[in-house]
Amino acid sequence: MQSAMRRKLLEIFTNAETDYVSGQMISEQLNCSRTAVWKHIEDLRSEGYELEAVRKKGYRIIRVPNKVTSNELLLGLHTKRMGHHVHYEESVESTQKIAHRLAQEDAVEGTVVVAEEQTSGRGRLDRVWYSPKYTGVWMSIILRPTVPPQQAPQLTLLAAVAIVQAIEEITDLSPDIKWPNDILINGKKLVGILTEMQADVERVHSVIVGIGINVNQQASDFAPNIQKIATSLSIESGQQINRAELMQTIFLKLEKLYDDYLTHGFKVVKLLWESYAVTIGKQIVARTLRETIEGTAKGITDDGTLLLEDLHGKVHYIHSADISL
Ligand code: BTN
Repeated sequence: MQSAMRRKLLEIFTNAETDYVSGQMISEQLNCSRTAVWKHIEDLRSEGYELEAVRKKGYRIIRVPNKVTSNELLLGLHTKRMGHHVHYEESVESTQKIAHRLAQEDAVEGTVVVAEEQTSGRGRLDRVWYSPKYTGVWMSIILRPTVPPQQAPQLTLLAAVAIVQAIEEITDLSPDIKWPNDILINGKKLVGILTEMQADVERVHSVIVGIGINVNQQASDFAPNIQKIATSLSIESGQQINRAELMQTIFLKLEKLYDDYLTHGFKVVKLLWESYAVTIGKQIVARTLRETIEGTAKGITDDGTLLLEDLHGKVHYIHSADISL
């Protein structure tokens, strides 16, 4: 099926006010015959969509394919701009790399680059981010906030809060945040966020929020050395999670928090972040590029810097480090 036709058809299901959409309505909106409607529905089925057809009621989509293409993401998306432009690839080196290029080419705010697999996924501190096919969410979101460059790190914390809220909404899990932006469950890593910026001295051109979420992996899918430190939503909840629905929920939470942040500032995000953070008030060890400091995490500053009081009572401002609890 042509992608424009598929998109229109999926839009009809998304915008419908009832569960079922009649063949008559589809034929009117697509301006085609009932036979052509039937053919388009069959095409959707052959692409992995599961549709129920009920006499006198019409069609209903029961399941979408286990993919995160722009069509899957568009169906049921209720944001104003986040996720409206999706650049989808089956396999890429890193979604960050593509997002950087698109940001330079004037991609609009809310553009998302998503891939089913990354062959060279990048983590913080130059680490590798393991991103196997169809099991996780590997995406980079382009934002264009009107804030000075030194405030851009706040967006990492904002993204972490939005992701925790989305996970809480679609599962029974209650994840924790470890400064600056690891999301953990039972002490094991579930989500990593890598925020990068294109800016000059006064102005941010774009912030690329790279998000990696372990979703449907089973324990045996992780290498033995990673099994001790990583987990997935599926392992923790005992359920298969619909990745497109998770992404859509993240777009919605992110958009709401981001709009609030642009109008009212960092205050609300900071309070929410602190309510999810496990680091604050704890005895921690921070390994920065230069030194290792042990002490008590006192809180975060308004730009997201961690305040760490060492064993002699001296307070250190930590901008980037690896934290162990
Ligand atoms: C971390 O080290 O915790 C951050 C991991 C960030 C991984 C994501 S997956 C999508 C995007 N593309 C990348 O290459 N990295 C980020």
